[in-house]
Amino acid sequence: RQRILSGMQPTNDSLSIGNYIGAMTQWVSLQDDFDAFYMVADLHALTVNPDPDKLRERTRRTLAQYLAGGVDPERSTLFLQSHVPAHAELSWLLSCHTGFGELSRMTQFKDKAAKQGTETATAGLFSYPVLMAADILLYDAARVPVGEDQRQHLELTRNLAERMNSRYGADTFVVPEPHIVKAVAKIYDLQQPTQKMSKSEVGKGTIWLLDDPAKAAKKIKSAVTDAGTDITYDPVNKPGISNLLTIFAYLTDRTISDLEHEFEGQQYGHLKVALADVVAEFLTEFQTKVHTFLDDRAQLDAILRVGAHKAGDVAQDTLRRVNDRLGLLLSG
Ligand code: TYM
Repeated sequence: RQRILSGMQPTNDSLSIGNYIGAMTQWVSLQDDFDAFYMVADLHALTVNPDPDKLRERTRRTLAQYLAGGVDPERSTLFLQSHVPAHAELSWLLSCHTGFGELSRMTQFKDKAAKQGTETATAGLFSYPVLMAADILLYDAARVPVGEDQRQHLELTRNLAERMNSRYGADTFVVPEPHIVKAVAKIYDLQQPTQKMSKSEVGKGTIWLLDDPAKAAKKIKSAVTDAGTDITYDPVNKPGISNLLTIFAYLTDRTISDLEHEFEGQQYGHLKVALADVVAEFLTEFQTKVHTFLDDRAQLDAILRVGAHKAGDVAQDTLRRVNDRLGLLLSG
């Protein structure tokens, strides 16, 4: 079986429904056909210098949300990025082959640095995509299931792999393909349906998986909708309604055309009320599972111990291979 790898940053108290629909549902459906490695990107979260106690809490919560979402530790390898030191090591080797200009062109860096000011943006924020490339290349991952916002980082990863392959030998790295499912690759903000639903927005536009279900239902009911009255999927002319239909379809495992049919002749308000119920019910069930996992600290620790072991073995092999190719002497 081919390998896949992906991860999420534990940067908030909760993941968003965008992370869930855009990425986690893909992770879950790929775990039977691929040898899947899913990590919590805790080293990436350090780029914003979180409070240490918060980081600990958020890391556990992120893992518990993976489990509640259906990522199965029996079928997939679940681990923390920081438990496998090879990530930081390969990141250094790759950074010696990455152009300053190349990293300067990364749009996520440009956006974040613009908000923060380039003077105080950290070197970690700048080299973030290199660490992400290391995450992927260490596992010889053939595919990487992510949302649309990670496409540019994947492109950099591919460029780095190809560059190193032409310099050090064709099989130094597996060149990974992004696995981006168009229908869900970008879930939009409920208040600004032409913008990505973002983990950094604090307003009413983001549904968090650990949101109070009643509060989340209100956010759905106050979602911005479009001109016109028909409930039809049309992302260009009806971005708001199309986004709600996408969320509805994925939470209920139904097709968009099935929903269009059901809501034919009805008003936008009807769709919102129905979706608000769906979301509240989904969150209630999801959160029950999250709390069960969080309450069993020993089980979480055991999952991470097994995962660190399995991931560490694969990563260590790759790192030795790459060190050797680059001319570093291997230790006996
Ligand atoms: P992160 O933590 O920002 O997001 C986690 C995953 O969720 C997807 N996503 C979305 N999908 C659809 N609609 C949205 N509104 C939405 N918002 C987020 C993201 O595309 C991502 O798949 N750099 C990565 C974490 C990472 C990683 C990796 C990913 C670190 N190393 C190696 C893959 C492989 C990030 O910050 O994702």
